[in-house]
Amino acid sequence: MEKIVSLCKRRGFVYPTSEIYGGLASSYDYGPMGAELLRNIRNIWWKTFIHGRNDMVGLDSQILLHPTTWVASGHVSSFSDPVVEDKKTHKRYRVDLLIEDWLKLQKDPSKFKETSPESMTMEEMDDFIKKNKIKSPEGNEITLPKRFNLLFETKLGVVEGEKSLLYLRGETAQGIFSNFKNIVDSSRVKLPFGVGQIGKSFRNEITTGQFIFRTLELEQAEIEYFFDPVKTEWKTLMDQWKKEMWSFVSGTLGINENKLRWRRHSDKERSHYSKDTYDLDYEFPFGWKELWGIAYRTDYDLKQHMKHSGVSLEYFDPVERKKFIPHVVEPAVGINRLFLITLIDSYREKDNRVYLALKPTLAPVKIAVFPLLANKSELITKARKILIDLKSNFTCVWDERGNIGKRYFAQDEVGTPWCVTIDFKTLEDDTVTIRDRDTAQQIRIKCSKLNEYFETKMKGDTP
Ligand code: GAP
Repeated sequence: MEKIVSLCKRRGFVYPTSEIYGGLASSYDYGPMGAELLRNIRNIWWKTFIHGRNDMVGLDSQILLHPTTWVASGHVSSFSDPVVEDKKTHKRYRVDLLIEDWLKLQKDPSKFKETSPESMTMEEMDDFIKKNKIKSPEGNEITLPKRFNLLFETKLGVVEGEKSLLYLRGETAQGIFSNFKNIVDSSRVKLPFGVGQIGKSFRNEITTGQFIFRTLELEQAEIEYFFDPVKTEWKTLMDQWKKEMWSFVSGTLGINENKLRWRRHSDKERSHYSKDTYDLDYEFPFGWKELWGIAYRTDYDLKQHMKHSGVSLEYFDPVERKKFIPHVVEPAVGINRLFLITLIDSYREKDNRVYLALKPTLAPVKIAVFPLLANKSELITKARKILIDLKSNFTCVWDERGNIGKRYFAQDEVGTPWCVTIDFKTLEDDTVTIRDRDTAQQIRIKCSKLNEYFETKMKGDTP
C-alpha cells in the first residue's frame, strides 16, 4: 500500500487535501493523472450502465436536498456508526474496526474464528470490549460505544439565528427517489427500468488511515432499478445485477477475479432500508473490504417519501390498469474505490521497472510522443506534427526531458500503454518506434499507419 500511496503522490494521481496547511483528515485531491483516471472510470460506468442498456436513464440531482428527504429516508435517525472515545486523547474510533484491528493482533486467531465485528449489536460490541479489555490504539481506556450520525450538517441562510439546517447528501440515491415521479412523467420509461447517477456524497467518517478507501467526500455511482414485485422476482433480478457488477469489475476494468468475492450481510449488519444485501469485496492490501454493494430496498424509500411529502409516488401500469409502489434493487459503488482497486491491481514490478498494467481505455494517457533529442529542430518539428495528428484521436503527452530511458520510466509509472519516438531514421524513411508498456518491446512503423495502429489497439479494449 505504501508503494501505491507514494506512486500516487509522485506521479500526480492523488495528493492529501490542503497539504500546505497540514492536510485534512480522510480527504484527498486527484492530480492531473488521477483526474483523467477518475474521468475514464466514470465514463465507462456511464457508457456500460446508462448508454449501453435500453432500460436505464441518467440523472444529476443536487447535493443539497430538502432536509425532510433525510428524515423520510431514515438517515437522520439510523445512518450511524458505533463509536468509542479514547478517555485521554478524546480521539474517536469506530468500534467494529477497533475490534477488527484487535483481532488481527491476536496470537491465536482461531479462538475468534466465529467473531464478526461488522455483525455485532451495540451490546455485543460492548460485552466484547469489556471481556477482552480492549483499549484504544494509544493504549488508553475507552468510553462505552455510542451511535454517531454520519450525515454532514450545514446551514442555509445568511442571518444568524434564522439559518435553517440542511444536510450534504449521504448517498446519491435519495435524489433518484425524490425525482421518481418527475422521471416517469417526463420520459418514456416503463417498468422495469433503472435510474443511474454519479455524484459526490458526504459522510462524517470516523476512521482514518486507509488512504482513499474511506473518505469524508466520496463519489458514488448508484443505480435504483425499479420493478413490479408481482411480475419480477427480486432474487432473480439481484442475481442478474450481481453478474453485471462482477463482469464490469473483472471484464471491463480488468481486475483479477481471484481478488473478488461476494459476502452477504447478516441480519444485524444490514442497513435499515434493506431486506437483503451483498457486498462485492476486493482483497485490498489491508484485507477483504467492500467495493460495491447491492441491496433490495423493497418499496421502503418511495413509501417513506410518499408519507412525508404527501405526494403519490405510485406507478400506473397501463396494461394491467393497476397502481402500485414499485420495488427497488440498488447496485451502489464508490468511483474512488474503483479507482483504488484499478491502481492496486495494475501495479507491477518487473525487471527493475515499475509500471501500471492499466487497460488502454482506463490509462490517463494513451500515447507519449518523444523527440529523441531536444536540441535537434528537425526532430522536434517532425515530432510536433505527429503529436498534433495523434492528439485529435487520443489523449497524448509530449516529453523531451532527460534521456529516453527516463521518459519510458515516467510513462510506465502512470500506465501509458505506448510511447512513440521520433529519431534520425524517421527523417530518412518516415518511420517511428512504438514501445509497448507491458513487454517493453519496440516495433518500427510508418508514420502514416500510426492512427490506424492505435485505433485497432483501442478498439480491442473498448467495452
Ligand atoms: N445508497 C446505498 C449506499 O450508499 P453504501 O454501501 O453506504 O450504500 C455505496 O455505499 C458504496 O459507496 C460503497 O460500496 C463504497 O464503494 C462507497 N463508499 C461508501 N462510503 C464511502 C466512503 N466513506 N469513502 C469512499 N467510498 C465510500
